[in-house]
Amino acid sequence: MRVYEIGDYTKGLSLHAVERPEPVPGHGEAVMRVRATGINARDLSIMEGALGKNVMPYTRVPLSDNAGDIIAVGPGVENVKVGDRVTMTHYWEWLDGDWHADMAKKDYASTIDGFLAEQVVVPAAALIKLPDSISYEDASTIQSPGLTAWNAVVEAGAAKASDTVLTLGTGGVSVFGMQWAKMLGARVIITSSSDEKLARMRELGADMTINYRTNPDWPSEVLNLTGGEGADIILNNVGLGELENCLLSAASNGRIMHIGANPVVHNQGPQAPLAMTKIPNIIIKNLTIRGIIVGSRRMFVDCLTAMEVNNIKPIIDRVFDWDDIYECIEYMQSGEKLGKIVIRVQ
Ligand SMILES: NC(=O)c1ccc[n+]([C@@H]2O[C@H](COP(=O)([O-])OP(=O)(O)OC[C@H]3O[C@@H](n4cnc5c(N)ncnc54)[C@H](OP(=O)(O)O)[C@@H]3O)[C@@H](O)[C@H]2O)c1
Repeated sequence: MRVYEIGDYTKGLSLHAVERPEPVPGHGEAVMRVRATGINARDLSIMEGALGKNVMPYTRVPLSDNAGDIIAVGPGVENVKVGDRVTMTHYWEWLDGDWHADMAKKDYASTIDGFLAEQVVVPAAALIKLPDSISYEDASTIQSPGLTAWNAVVEAGAAKASDTVLTLGTGGVSVFGMQWAKMLGARVIITSSSDEKLARMRELGADMTINYRTNPDWPSEVLNLTGGEGADIILNNVGLGELENCLLSAASNGRIMHIGANPVVHNQGPQAPLAMTKIPNIIIKNLTIRGIIVGSRRMFVDCLTAMEVNNIKPIIDRVFDWDDIYECIEYMQSGEKLGKIVIRVQ
């Protein structure tokens, strides 16, 4: 069976396909035939070497988003059978309850080989059966961006219809964030560098839009659009460089979801340090700044159920085939996409 390995990322993009033996499931394990996988900002940073040297072996198989079917099960597996359509989270040990940082040690596409592969051996307990109405391609967009946005808006954010949700950019997390907020009846403000993308977001349900490139003082525009109140829930999908603007955009008692993690914002250079003068906003507005780390298996099940019941479809920009992986990465690097990119594996 074929996999892609990341290669020597210290020399730039070095992804290449290799043959490996078909995996054999051990006790409690199953083998997933991967049908589709998705590429995320983190994957790009790893493959480009932006996270630095010695972060992982050159043989690492990238991409954490996944959907496929079961082709073999090991001894002791009873929750799935051959032929089941399945998916799973990438921090697979977080099944339910509270997160613990030790769970980050088992992370597909980071500490364990990921899903840009024809077959992957997986722990059966982590698997989730896909509803019939959710295709492999749709399912392969959810694990990282969809579930992270679900956690930020539905779980940690506890959004309600009277809330205004502000979500930064038109990437995978942000677009899902808008979808979950609209599902709950909240008003949504979304930002982008592109007027064309903002027009598309209005078609998809955004109530208000702001171009952060032509309007660098966009927090003032958030206040204008909300009668001076600000946003109740903010998805900071960029990171530290936009925290200051999030503090300025927040309503009293606002919740800022700290999601964006890249050391470099693509096409924009290193992130700016936080201005100490803006920190008093945290106290005077009684803000909560909350770190979000994807979500648990239980949250993923809830998220899939909500998609099925409410007929919510992921916004997929383009689907690439296995052999077109370099074209796929170039498109991701271009920053042109809105929502998600999918790779059809087989
Ligand atoms: N904490 C977690 O568990 C978790 C999970 C998933 C992802 N993440 C992180 O969250 C971030 C977003 O992930 P993603 O998958 O949505 O990325 P993505 O699909 O690559 O989207 C990135 C988007 O960010 C927008 N952007 C860039 N600079 C911006 C700025 N200054 N203000 C507003 N928007 C800006 C751009 O939107 P426009 O093109 O519209 O300008 C771009 O499309 C990444 O850093 C990723 O590593 C964290």
